[in-house]
Amino acid sequence: MDVNEKINDIEKQVDCEVGKAESSKGLFEIKMRFLGKTGEISSLMKNMRDVPPEQRPTLGKILNALRQRVEAKFDEIELKLKERELKKKYEDEKIDVTLPAKNLPCGAYHPNTLIRNQLISVFAGMGFEIFEGPEIENDYYNFTALNTPKDHPARDMQDTFYISDDLLLRTQTSAGQIRVMENKKPPIKILSPGKVYRSDDDATHSPMFSQMEGLVVDKGITLCDLKGMLDEFARKIFGDGVKTRLRPSYFPFTEPSVEVDVSCFECGGKGCRLCKGTGWIEILGAGMVNRRVLEGCAIDPDEYTGFAFGMGIERIAMLKYGINNMKLLFEGDTRFLKQFKD
Ligand code: PHE
Repeated sequence: MDVNEKINDIEKQVDCEVGKAESSKGLFEIKMRFLGKTGEISSLMKNMRDVPPEQRPTLGKILNALRQRVEAKFDEIELKLKERELKKKYEDEKIDVTLPAKNLPCGAYHPNTLIRNQLISVFAGMGFEIFEGPEIENDYYNFTALNTPKDHPARDMQDTFYISDDLLLRTQTSAGQIRVMENKKPPIKILSPGKVYRSDDDATHSPMFSQMEGLVVDKGITLCDLKGMLDEFARKIFGDGVKTRLRPSYFPFTEPSVEVDVSCFECGGKGCRLCKGTGWIEILGAGMVNRRVLEGCAIDPDEYTGFAFGMGIERIAMLKYGINNMKLLFEGDTRFLKQFKD
């Protein structure tokens, strides 16, 4: 076959083959058959060796021109195929912004956590530091050092879960008072949140609940300081108009001891269901640290005085959020919990 015929033939083949290519990858394979190292055009070029030297320049020009035409043809088709492929890729990856989103339910803080955080922030603002004691205590810290030796009738105020003769689940965060006073000399100003345990179970009591304890010891601390601090705390937690009042009470580790009421934040003191018609709601126990407790911790009661208070966090949460059954706080029902977005 003469070279011109061969060239014509190759060009026809190329025209016909490129039309069949369905993808840029397929096209590349076809391209290699013509323009690859062992492709048809390359072998034509290799044959130049057999051509008489005087004809080589002319033939060289012809073959180069052929190569350029064929390359241009492939480039043109490749561009079209690539464009088509890109368009398809965009189509396939298109995001339908009108589709409904996956439902990712958002959590909420537990009411106990909300109240605990609010209390911490109120008292931290007054300069209190946080101390956390152990939940498993020994008899000494939970009772004896708090002026409640064995056979003291006040032990019956709290039904205790014993682990052994000496170990128990703490019944009050007051145990932490002793741990702090043993390790730190006045001035002391600590806040101690934590779980406590008592063998008690009804609509307003649970065998496990949380308390928030406060302890202040320094020179010249009086009941007035306690009252002033409680007023501030009550306003911040229950609202601006709320007042406090102290009623005499008894705890072995405080003397005098008081029960603290806040004026009813629901009816403003007129009397309603929440305050059972009295206009007042009991929220915590408190008192001046008993001098025997200070002495036991090697703090001189003639030099230093202090006050302590302890409250149930669940009780505050129930009052503030109008929860009537304590069980709701322990069941983990999301229908209940999701109502407490701060
Ligand atoms: N620990 C007492 C209770 O659990 C509360 C309290 C704490 C009373 C501190 C006085 C001072 O009932």
